Amino acid sequence: MSEMVEVIVDDQTFHAEKGSLLIDLLIKEKVKVPYFCYHEALGADGNCRMCMVEIEGQKRPQIACDTFIKEGMEVRSKGENIEKVRTNILELELINHPVDCPTCDQAGECSLQNFYMDYGLHDTKITIPEKEKGLKKVDLGSNVILDQERCVLCARCTRFTDKITGTHELGIIGRGDHAKVSTMPGKKLDNPYAMNVVDLCPVGALTSKDFRFSQRVWFLKTVESVCHGCAKGCNIYIDHNKIKYQDDVIYRYRPRRNDEVNGFFICDEGRLSYKGLQENRQHEIVLDNEVISEDEAIEALKDLVKKYKSNITVIIDANLYTEDIEAILNFSKEIEANVCAPLDIYRDEDFKDDMLKSAQRAANYKTIENLSLETKIPEKCELLINFNHPGKFEAERSIDFRTHQDPDAAFILPLASYVESSGHITNEEGITQHCQKALSKNDPLPTVIEWLEKVSV
Ligand code: SF4
Ligand code: SF4
Ligand code: FES
Repeated sequence: MSEMVEVIVDDQTFHAEKGSLLIDLLIKEKVKVPYFCYHEALGADGNCRMCMVEIEGQKRPQIACDTFIKEGMEVRSKGENIEKVRTNILELELINHPVDCPTCDQAGECSLQNFYMDYGLHDTKITIPEKEKGLKKVDLGSNVILDQERCVLCARCTRFTDKITGTHELGIIGRGDHAKVSTMPGKKLDNPYAMNVVDLCPVGALTSKDFRFSQRVWFLKTVESVCHGCAKGCNIYIDHNKIKYQDDVIYRYRPRRNDEVNGFFICDEGRLSYKGLQENRQHEIVLDNEVISEDEAIEALKDLVKKYKSNITVIIDANLYTEDIEAILNFSKEIEANVCAPLDIYRDEDFKDDMLKSAQRAANYKTIENLSLETKIPEKCELLINFNHPGKFEAERSIDFRTHQDPDAAFILPLASYVESSGHITNEEGITQHCQKALSKNDPLPTVIEWLEKVSV
């Protein structure tokens, strides 16, 4: 077992593992210390020099990201001396930076901007024409755009492609003022996790082609949710906004740290999956090519249930929340229907990798397995009630509850998508996680539970 020792930081006593990194303790205990290059997933690089602290017995300030905890260590993270050191380092960082925050996409969530407000506020000795210029819009590939002038050369992005994906597309070329992040000539950033470099970049040097300049970040509202792209259940933040006179829409997904599930990252496909979620939505109730009212639909559904009473099959999508699945099971019992949830359709071996992506593309398939639901559809099926399952099934009549349009559906009832309601899903490792409701639409669609309350016979 590792030895725990006492460390004093700014007169407060903490306990930490002997030999662990001082910066990890400071981050964990929320001691304010600026840093660019250190990242808990990438380790220390020691290149930005921003994380300086004073340590009793040491002549000069030390970088916290390369200092190992010792018994009785006394650390000062604030005070005139150390703040002057940080101001000077920041001034160096800013020599070639364009300092054009109002036009930068990172404004509002930029470490450089925040540190300048905390420790900078110095009078610049460099005029704009004296600054080394860089390229403003380099398409690195995989939806990532580089602004060379805004880069602080922290090497987080290059270390990500070296240490995390092992694809080595990015490097820093040149020396001194001419040092730049780049791909090899003729090569592109090209791996299924590439867009994580945008979150890793502490400044506005790397932006996502998908999100850049679409919203000022301070207008966005954020909820905590879980990606539904596969059964891994990566934790995400959903950033959304409702602009005046428009509807509430999602602008981006960002990874949310969960060491038990996805660590710090998500895959690019999951990150962009919000787009498909918002396209081709089903908004109207349609029966045999005619738009009908909700009351007419409820009546028609009840008539069909009565007519086919002896042979009804209910089909469940394995992406639905557990709460929805339970409500469907209760409804099925009420109408004495067979229940099944075919799982084969979700299997995608080409998607799978050894980092996060799972071959099982249904977010809540584990719940279907745990409930031991039938996965084979009965041979003879007269009335089929499908709750958003993507498969195509033969039946005399069908009722389809759908989040998205389905040109083959004769009787279709629109459903709220998972971001328009809340609930739980259980990932492939059996971890149950909660998804908050993100969107409040102008014309909200009913959830599964709301529909079932309306049609309950
Ligand atoms: S582009 Fe961003 S992450 Fe990469 S080295 Fe520059 S500042 Fe760091
Ligand atoms: S690995 Fe799966 S759950 Fe994670 S972000 Fe990608 S699609 Fe979503
Ligand atoms: S975070 Fe310590 S040197 Fe950059």
